[in-house]
Amino acid sequence: MAKKKTLKVGIIGVGGISHLHLSAYKKHNRVELVAIADINEANLANAGDQFDVPENRRFTDYKKMLKLKDLQAVSVCTPNWLHAPVTVDALNAGKHVLTEKPMAMNAVEAKKMLDAAKRHRRKLHVGHNHRFDHSALFAKELIAGGKLGEIYYARVQAVRRRGCPSWGVFGQLDKQGGGAMSDIGVHMVDLTMHLMGHPKPVAVSGASYRTIGDKPGHVGMFGVVNHKTYTVEDMAVGFVRFANGATMSIETSFNANLDEDKFGTVLAGDKGGLSLYPLKVQLELNGHLTDCTPQNVDAHPAPYPQAASGHDRSIHGFVEAILNNTPTPIPGSEVILTQKIIDGLYLSAKTGKETRIK
Ligand SMILES: NC(=O)c1ccc[n+]([C@@H]2O[C@H](COP(=O)([O-])OP(=O)(O)OC[C@H]3O[C@@H](n4cnc5c(N)ncnc54)[C@H](O)[C@@H]3O)[C@@H](O)[C@H]2O)c1
Repeated sequence: MAKKKTLKVGIIGVGGISHLHLSAYKKHNRVELVAIADINEANLANAGDQFDVPENRRFTDYKKMLKLKDLQAVSVCTPNWLHAPVTVDALNAGKHVLTEKPMAMNAVEAKKMLDAAKRHRRKLHVGHNHRFDHSALFAKELIAGGKLGEIYYARVQAVRRRGCPSWGVFGQLDKQGGGAMSDIGVHMVDLTMHLMGHPKPVAVSGASYRTIGDKPGHVGMFGVVNHKTYTVEDMAVGFVRFANGATMSIETSFNANLDEDKFGTVLAGDKGGLSLYPLKVQLELNGHLTDCTPQNVDAHPAPYPQAASGHDRSIHGFVEAILNNTPTPIPGSEVILTQKIIDGLYLSAKTGKETRIK
């Protein structure tokens, strides 16, 4: 019997999140991890030793790694400001790309990434792993089956009361493009857009605040963040209008003097609603709006049998799309809409006016 072809992958940026990529690739029986790159030699050695990458396949210059002829696909796990340039370099070198979220610093960069993918006929996948959580898969199926009817409102929350990551460059605007909105709000806006079926955003209003993180003395869920280099927003709020008349409210924060942390989305349709996380469904039964909690959702059937988590499924979805030459399940062409919402919110926060989205 002919041996099934394998996919040879590499990773650029082997810090925190890359370890989920490394282990997901290792779990897939048709993937070979062939190279890694990082400017930080300690991180390079750590990931290389842990995941058996030969010394001559560890690069401090990712451009040298991209010259490898056998390398077919890469994960880009660098800080946000490098997602676009590294992705475009990789696409230009003929590699398929899975970039971590957010897709880019802004939609102009995201468009350049899409153009390069199109030009070179390569896959461009964005790591919005929440789409592959069991409860999100259940929710998507429920909506596709028409149980909620037309979704006309969504409430997105990614609220940490004290929770800016203390490693890396998460507090630095020039390296990240934004704070809570770009880092955690983006996850829930993307998931909500996915559940709503990617309606076209036409206008965004928003405000952002930095009142806490740039002052000393705050201890968060990840320890103490350097307040002297903290230039991102603590909190961003927004309101999005879609061409189909639906709307979305957004509340996201790294630091906020609010009553509780929140992470999830609430959707209201004309037949029913749902919220996650945790997953709850609201349906009208015999005239009564009824709250339901689906049981055993963690056992809900999920794609990609070798995957064990939403992260694994997102990564295995990318792999399968390349091996089978099918569309990737989280294409950049969808995610750019989330990027446009984020850009619109930040611009509105700056101008004090509603941003029209083209
Ligand atoms: N999907 C998720 O749930 C999730 C979770 C955490 C982080 N992320 C995203 O992953 C990205 C990285 O976050 P992290 O927490 O791993 O950060 P990190 O700081 O731990 O890792 C980033 C790595 O990139 C390396 N790097 C920097 N410049 C480089 C260059 N020019 N070439 C090669 N490597 C370079 C750094 O040395 C570091 O090792 C961010 O964009 C973040 O938004 C996603």
